[in-house]
Amino acid sequence: MGIVFDNKSKTFYLNTQNSSYVFCVSDFNTLEHLYYGKRIPSDDIRYISNRQIYSFQSHESRDSRAFSTATVGLEIATFNSGDFRTPSVIYDYESNLNANRLRYVSHEIYKGRKAVLGMPCSRENAECESLGILLCDDQNQLEVRLFYVVYYSENVIARHQTIKNLGDKNLKISKFASMNLDFYGSDYHVVTLEGMYLSERSNVVRTPIRKGVFKNNSLVGTTSHHKNPFMVLCDSCADEHSGNAYGFNLIYSGNFSEEIEVDRLGDTRIIAGIDDTAFCWNLVSGQTFSSPEAIITYSDEGLGGVSRNFHNHIRNNIIESDFAYAKRPIVINTWEPFFFDLSEDKILHLAKESKKCGIDTIVVDDGWFRNSIKENLGDFKVDKNKFPLGLKSLADKIHAQGLNFGIWIEPEMVSPNSDYYRENANTCALSNANEPLISRNQYVLDLTNDENIDYIVNRLKQEFDGVELDYLKWDYNRYITEASGLNCSAGEVYHRQVLGSYKLFFALKDLFKGALFENCAGGGGRFDLGMLYFSPQVWASDNTDPYERLYIQYGTSYAYPPSAISCHFTEGKCTSGRPSSFEFRYNVASFGAYGYELNVCELSDNEKAILSEYSSKYREDEQLVLSGDLYRLISPESNTFCAYMMVSKDKNRAKFNFFSINARGLTETFTLKLMGLDPKKLYKNQNTGLILSGETLMNVGIRLNDLFGKKRSDGYTVNFVALD
Ligand code: GLA
Repeated sequence: MGIVFDNKSKTFYLNTQNSSYVFCVSDFNTLEHLYYGKRIPSDDIRYISNRQIYSFQSHESRDSRAFSTATVGLEIATFNSGDFRTPSVIYDYESNLNANRLRYVSHEIYKGRKAVLGMPCSRENAECESLGILLCDDQNQLEVRLFYVVYYSENVIARHQTIKNLGDKNLKISKFASMNLDFYGSDYHVVTLEGMYLSERSNVVRTPIRKGVFKNNSLVGTTSHHKNPFMVLCDSCADEHSGNAYGFNLIYSGNFSEEIEVDRLGDTRIIAGIDDTAFCWNLVSGQTFSSPEAIITYSDEGLGGVSRNFHNHIRNNIIESDFAYAKRPIVINTWEPFFFDLSEDKILHLAKESKKCGIDTIVVDDGWFRNSIKENLGDFKVDKNKFPLGLKSLADKIHAQGLNFGIWIEPEMVSPNSDYYRENANTCALSNANEPLISRNQYVLDLTNDENIDYIVNRLKQEFDGVELDYLKWDYNRYITEASGLNCSAGEVYHRQVLGSYKLFFALKDLFKGALFENCAGGGGRFDLGMLYFSPQVWASDNTDPYERLYIQYGTSYAYPPSAISCHFTEGKCTSGRPSSFEFRYNVASFGAYGYELNVCELSDNEKAILSEYSSKYREDEQLVLSGDLYRLISPESNTFCAYMMVSKDKNRAKFNFFSINARGLTETFTLKLMGLDPKKLYKNQNTGLILSGETLMNVGIRLNDLFGKKRSDGYTVNFVALD
């Protein structure tokens, strides 16, 4: 049983395969957090609670000073309630009885799970079990519900909470996080994924936490290029392969915040949810507000263990099941080869040559309805000069060649130079400023206004009438500024915009049923779990220089599975243009959902044959990318080498990748211990024919010099297959 309630001690045990999350109902009907970590039996562990008495604290009872909210762990931390740490919830009921004290009323434990209002969340599976807890404010007319969903096999707990206004007065909510979690002690490090446009998540930053507040957040309206809602808290001595580590992420695509506070006693609090900067939600009588869902995991296998747990959860419970483990299209995207210079002839010629390279899907990127970034977002009308016969004819001809057809759109934006903007200037952009700030020549479409959503859905419906669409690349190329919607206050607009985006996603998923959505936001500016719910893969970065990509992909893999990371073999036109061998480019790009972005028409027959071999090789290894366990062995941040492995769940197949990232040859002695294999199995190295046990490969390691001889190359893939 995943969830156990011990009636005597009033303690909840949320057990996954390897972890336990424990809290109880205190004598004062508050929820007291007791433990999160390695699996323990259902012992009564209330003794761990801090009952020490400190000056200046407040107490629930006039008779005893033995209990104070200020010193114990809390499941929800309200402001103004005697807990002086950072609150996870702040509200203000018009009655002015602003005590914010929430008391346990009841709970239910049930199979399955409830959805999160208007937002994506982890999907229900046959195993999941939920705990719902009802709390009431003893002074104000409102209720709060905490939801915990246990994903047993994945070692993940999903949390979200709701608040309902039961009275007839207004309830102003200025903070409503998805979760609060308190740990005793503070000997921890925090790991976050930093970057910016062209280096998204490439910098894995580990910081010791200290007294005070650490914040990982975004204020740009989306999750952003420079921040990511993924975060790890680990023991200071934990590393990539061992030690206690806790992973956090949010299924949310807007302004988010994760705060870590080490309080005066040296204890640690984690809060994750919607960022509260300028947030103010007016909850009118009878309405309910929901936080997005947070997911948390624990592993005693360090950062690598956290990644593998999250990879399993994302593949099993967030990505659509039709795509999660299915063979992905090998695409060729027209952006880097042609930019805006598109025509039907050009694309059909590209399609013909692409087939020779083992490519099965053509994705027509930006340029099909405009000639530059300066126009026509919002109109989305095919450019008849480039495609005189329209999209249907193009799609049909591509299908007739035996290829799939995909297209690029950017539906959440509007160009001032578009008919839609000219006709709806006062209602379509997400700003009512005079001359709003412009970015990439465009405004953000106001999705807090349903009319804009309906318009876009109908426009695309019309434009794609009869077009058989297999693939949709969904882009988003600016941040939000001066946000104010036509129909909502400034404190609500950022979150309402995210809800509007999700509404649009649900509607377009319905319109383009069966098509694979690839997400993109000026490269990887919205790589988050909200987007992965709709799109099994996300374009990780416009930086396709394979040297740089190693850092981006390696960093992204801390949070997201390789199969979710779109990786293309290109000429690196958008970035450095630094030369690199075909072999290196393939070895880097075959890390994730593989494709191409170069003009294959310009390649020689021999080069096309090489790409065809790469496509077949990728197909051979694809199951490892889609479902394997990832073991990161050497971080590119070592600035010398990079190495990782993907191992099948049954441990019968593995692929090992090794890169020299500063073009050093393997002149020095270099051995590396493999990981994740079955110690008892015998593995054949398919490159050298050498047969060794998993035990030997993992303890003695492999000698890279011997494997590759004196050949100097900067990237290798080695496959291992278990013998029967
Ligand atoms: C963004 C994307 C690119 C491409 C262009 C088109 O920058 O990241 O891949 O689609 O937009 O304008």
